[in-house]
Amino acid sequence: MHAKFPPISSRIPGFMHGADYNPDQWLHDPAVLEEDIRLMKLAGCNVMAVGIFAWAALEPEEGRFEFEWLDRVLDRFAANGIYAWLATPSGARPAWLSAKYPEVLRVGPNRVRNLHGHRHNHCYSSPVYREKVERINRKLAERYAFHPAVVGWHISNEYGGECHCGYCQEAFREWLRAKYGSLEALNAAWWTSFWSHTYTDWSQLESPAPHGETMVHAHNLDWKRFVTDRTLDFCKHEIAPLRAVNPELPVTTNMMDWYEGLDYRKFADALDVISWDAYPTWHEARDDSRVAAWFAFNHDLFRSLKDKPFMLMESTPSLTNWQPISKLKKPGMHRLSSLQAVAHGADTVQYFQWRKSRGSSEKLHGAVIDHVGHEHTRVFCDVADLGATLKALAGVVGTATRARAAIIADWDNRWAVKDSQGPRNAGVHYEQTVMEHYKALWELGVAVDIVGSDDDRDFGRYKLIVAPMMYLCRAEAGAKLERYVRDGGTLVATYWSGVVDEHDLCHLGGFPGPLRKTLGVWAEEIDALYDGERNGLVPVPDNALGLAREFDSGELCELVHLEGAEALAVYRSDFYAGRPALTRHRFGQGQAYYLATRAEAPFYDFLYGRLVEDLGIPRAIEADLPEGVTAQVRTDGETDYVFILNFSGAETSVPLDGRAYRDAETGEPVEESRLNLPANGARVLTRTARR
Ligand code: GLA
Ligand code: ZN
Repeated sequence: MHAKFPPISSRIPGFMHGADYNPDQWLHDPAVLEEDIRLMKLAGCNVMAVGIFAWAALEPEEGRFEFEWLDRVLDRFAANGIYAWLATPSGARPAWLSAKYPEVLRVGPNRVRNLHGHRHNHCYSSPVYREKVERINRKLAERYAFHPAVVGWHISNEYGGECHCGYCQEAFREWLRAKYGSLEALNAAWWTSFWSHTYTDWSQLESPAPHGETMVHAHNLDWKRFVTDRTLDFCKHEIAPLRAVNPELPVTTNMMDWYEGLDYRKFADALDVISWDAYPTWHEARDDSRVAAWFAFNHDLFRSLKDKPFMLMESTPSLTNWQPISKLKKPGMHRLSSLQAVAHGADTVQYFQWRKSRGSSEKLHGAVIDHVGHEHTRVFCDVADLGATLKALAGVVGTATRARAAIIADWDNRWAVKDSQGPRNAGVHYEQTVMEHYKALWELGVAVDIVGSDDDRDFGRYKLIVAPMMYLCRAEAGAKLERYVRDGGTLVATYWSGVVDEHDLCHLGGFPGPLRKTLGVWAEEIDALYDGERNGLVPVPDNALGLAREFDSGELCELVHLEGAEALAVYRSDFYAGRPALTRHRFGQGQAYYLATRAEAPFYDFLYGRLVEDLGIPRAIEADLPEGVTAQVRTDGETDYVFILNFSGAETSVPLDGRAYRDAETGEPVEESRLNLPANGARVLTRTARR
């Protein structure tokens, strides 16, 4: 069956390729716009994100709007086949706004109001800020929502941070009232009888503060949830006047890599398409796999938010200037990292930024057009080459990723497991742990969705679900995973799971709480190890997994009792030597693995190598990929596009699996049984999809 998602905009059937464009910085020099348009066409760019920080140029004083410059930019775009994601300018406000209405400025957790400056320095609750944003957005929509160059709305820019002003405190109290209904319920959920923290009046409630309350875990959790809801509410407030004028124009807001401050999953429904900004620190090591796996994880996360192709809204064509080391992309890396995004589901490749600013803090940030001002640069050539590649690969647009494996990664679990005092305040390394599981699958060339435990998606489509350190586990999530395994799924869960509920209240009656029955173990105690202290997994003879060698482990060792599960490996040392460290429970039609300790990385390679084979989870190429090389598939059901990506930092030779391949860019058949890839090499092949 031939099936594709529709393109993000019906006006651009192929890839969107382009950059953030700030013509408002060049209004004094009109020649720049004409030169930029010439260069955009030369670079194979067809889309620009315009006006992101242009509020001061659009509304130089309160109520006086100047749109002529933007008219000119968009009209010239339209005349030249270039499209625009038109931004709402709320990411930074003009000085007159802060000066006249100081309430728009953000208040820190220390309750001190910021001065004007920076960006993202505004309160999402302030009625004045909301009013001013609504007005400028409405004006933009009225003027441009049907402009032939405008293909969508770029809402604000990288929402983030939090405000602790009086308005936000009031909103937090209302949010809590709506959630709990009564103070009694709130006190019970927050366990405030501890240290006499019982609240007797709603007015006593405040956001957590370094000089105030930080010790009530449920309070901290609810504040973080509130910050997400507040920001989402603001985002919807921004979108409303735009949709009111033209409901057809797609809306997105650009996100940041697994940003901790906002539960992005909650934003998915409000947006038409997900977009995000990727800034890998390439060439940190000779082999780029660690960084590549992290960005692959993020691409998968953002694709999974709406389960469809996403936008790479920003990436640098060369270097950044805010990371500790501003490294150039070595030859090949621009193509490789851009195609990596596409391989995982991006239907756009966009940059920050088109042209370098002349002054201020981003003057040295990479751009398509350098200060030298012409196209005869290495970076421009890289961009133009990629433009040609994307044209040749237009068939990829709208194709899907069919993942049969998923990793559960909940924002509130991440907040809670890190906030909890004990068992290892020196670090439980939640994100690193998630990545250890992910990277093993990534190396195998397995497609992975990154999902929430309370997603409404059907888990039945996955043959394997991995739930690393699911410390916060709602009863419903436990029940959903129980059904999943009972119906034939395979679950891998780990130590420090099923410890608390959504209020960070410990599950009573034995850990791992709602997962205990499914996993067939009771975790009685957990031992934290000092840095450098090691234990290990010793295989049980003839274990079902075929585990044949020992693996090191550390950090946390849970002491479990078997309640239906069988031990596959036991602890090597300490007073709990010989007790189960890795178990499997056959449950209903499925099975649930439980890893009681944090194993060294090669263990995950072994575990997932075995499971992927046993469960028949498809790999992009059914062959052993060399280290540092991965592969991903996008498909329309008839044609598979197979992306082979070499992050090893060295030249390599990749075995193919005997199926008939063609080069996706040239259409030429691939005769070799092994592909030679240079360092930072990327090839895209096509083959007939399996029915
Ligand atoms: C972020 C912002 C951009 C720019 C880049 C620089 O992603 O959205 O405006 O500051 O960083 O890398
Ligand atoms: Zn505020």
